[in-house]
Amino acid sequence: MIVTTKSLFEVAYGKFAVGAYNINNLEQTMGLFRGNLDSKAPFIIQISKGARAYTDKRMLEAIIRTADQMFPEAIFAVHLDHGDEKTALECVESGFYSSVMIDASHEPFEGNVAATRRVVEAAHKRGISVEAEIGQLGGVEEDIKVDEGNAHLTNPQEALAFVRQSGCDSLACAIGTSHGAYKFSGSQGLHFDVLAEIQKLLPNFPLVMHGSSSVPKEEVDRINAAGGAIKGSKGVDENQFRRASELGVTKVNIDTDGRLVWTRVHREYFRDKPAEFDLRPPGKIFMAEYAKFIAHKNVKLGSAGRLDEVRAHVTKK
Ligand code: G3H
Ligand code: 13P
Ligand code: ZN
Repeated sequence: MIVTTKSLFEVAYGKFAVGAYNINNLEQTMGLFRGNLDSKAPFIIQISKGARAYTDKRMLEAIIRTADQMFPEAIFAVHLDHGDEKTALECVESGFYSSVMIDASHEPFEGNVAATRRVVEAAHKRGISVEAEIGQLGGVEEDIKVDEGNAHLTNPQEALAFVRQSGCDSLACAIGTSHGAYKFSGSQGLHFDVLAEIQKLLPNFPLVMHGSSSVPKEEVDRINAAGGAIKGSKGVDENQFRRASELGVTKVNIDTDGRLVWTRVHREYFRDKPAEFDLRPPGKIFMAEYAKFIAHKNVKLGSAGRLDEVRAHVTKK
């Protein structure tokens, strides 16, 4: 059942965060649905502009629609990740997405508000939720590169003014994370002080944490032992997800860690079976490993075991 992110956040706020997982293909989709059902968790499927262009956006939509039929117990939102205004409006019009992100965080404050406002007006007419962003994460967001020095944390006062003026339903805040596998080189971590300040000014307002992969050392080591050359870096400590959710984070974005699972499975498979050339055996291992990975993340997010509570909330409306 496809629902809005807003309805998921009504249940989650202050108690747990919903995992928002990026997908690109059918193996990820299968693992995602299985992992969420195994752990009885609501979830958010994120589709980036790159994912829409990877084959054809209609292909990805068809895969998700089919999964929805195959797994009728699943409750999830379909969300555009890091949309520009044009793509966000296109997704609103498509009738398939239940939630869109308009990311104009690289614009000056007024430009960000104006673009977000336009998307909010179109989306709310159709009952679609809107996530916006203020502040800048480090790393790569779609085709915009932000180096560590240029990344800046969200200013809580600006966040308050932004939410009031834009009418968005949730807000992505920069609290020290960055996208991709290279996040923290030293002992940096999440800025809970900034998060607490934002929550004080915006009580009960759903916040979003991008760049939340953990980049586990064991995973990187296994990939490198199987021929990879991924440089070491620390990601977000998954034991801190609960604290973030108590401070108003209701959506935690995870993409890179899932890509690492894919890379590890395929590198190890072909290292151990160099004579193999059938794509299905590693594909099956990946689906099972991805499902395990999702279920584990949901335990850390506190979303595991919440499916019935969410079902009761979304069906009473
Ligand atoms: O924030 C970006 C997400 O990880 C999506 O990555 O644009 O390569 O699909 P992508
Ligand atoms: P990671 O690169 O840390 O997985 O972040 C993903 C993300 O924020 C997608 O919007
Ligand atoms: Zn992101």
